[in-house]
Amino acid sequence: MCARYPLRVLLAIMARQPQTDDHENEGTLSLPSGDDVPFRVVQPNDAPALQRFLERCSDRTIYLRFFGSLNEFSEEKSQYFAHVDGVDHFAFVAIDPADQDEIIAIVRYDREPGEEQAEYAAIVEDSWQGYGIGIDLTRRLVDVACGNGVRYFYAMVMGKNKRMLELLRHLDLPEQEHHQEGVKHVEVELAPQTNNAN
Ligand SMILES: CC(C)(COP(=O)(O)OP(=O)(O)OC[C@H]1O[C@@H](n2cnc3c(N)ncnc32)[C@H](O)[C@@H]1OP(=O)(O)O)[C@@H](O)C(=O)NCCC(=O)NCCS
Repeated sequence: MCARYPLRVLLAIMARQPQTDDHENEGTLSLPSGDDVPFRVVQPNDAPALQRFLERCSDRTIYLRFFGSLNEFSEEKSQYFAHVDGVDHFAFVAIDPADQDEIIAIVRYDREPGEEQAEYAAIVEDSWQGYGIGIDLTRRLVDVACGNGVRYFYAMVMGKNKRMLELLRHLDLPEQEHHQEGVKHVEVELAPQTNNAN
């Protein structure tokens, strides 16, 4: 994780070098369950698979992610999810190991160009939740975000969404939370300042 990088690496990071190393951006998640789950950067032609993925998710999962129902925005969201620029917008998808045409998770960040803070969100298909996909992809996303000069992730999380809150805490990065009308606003510092930097 970038929090452990020395200053010279952080300075290179802040030069906004996009991460283009294929080895960093695709591979296999080796889950504690023994499952090997492929992952890669999302692609524009993933839109139909993203649509199918969202349709397989339960109402509860959709609600926890979007604070609304699928009918309102699934097609629009699948198009949005499928497009990234690799710097200000980035997403990893996990692929069903039994069917390479099906997506089972997506983690994503988005920011305004030049901003240090990016909005972060994740969604994992119900039958794959709790297997470690969310946190593994999020750690990889943090590394990419650091490489693109993002210093903070910001997430809006339902106060009752313990799994998401625990995932963010298990990143072992400094975080601040404040609670407003049942929603937690969580800011995670991706590249904390160190005192011994010179
Ligand atoms: C929230 C969500 C993205 C998390 O992804 P996930 O793959 O299910 O979660 P993970 O298995 O990677 O990690 C979370 C769990 O692992 C635990 N965990 C992660 N790393 C751990 C570690 N090193 N040690 C112990 N526990 C750990 C977390 O505490 C949490 O515990 P739980 O499974 O007992 O609840 C997913 O559950 C989801 O899509 N939920 C519905 C939509 C949603 O809430 N999206 C977030 C909107 S901001």
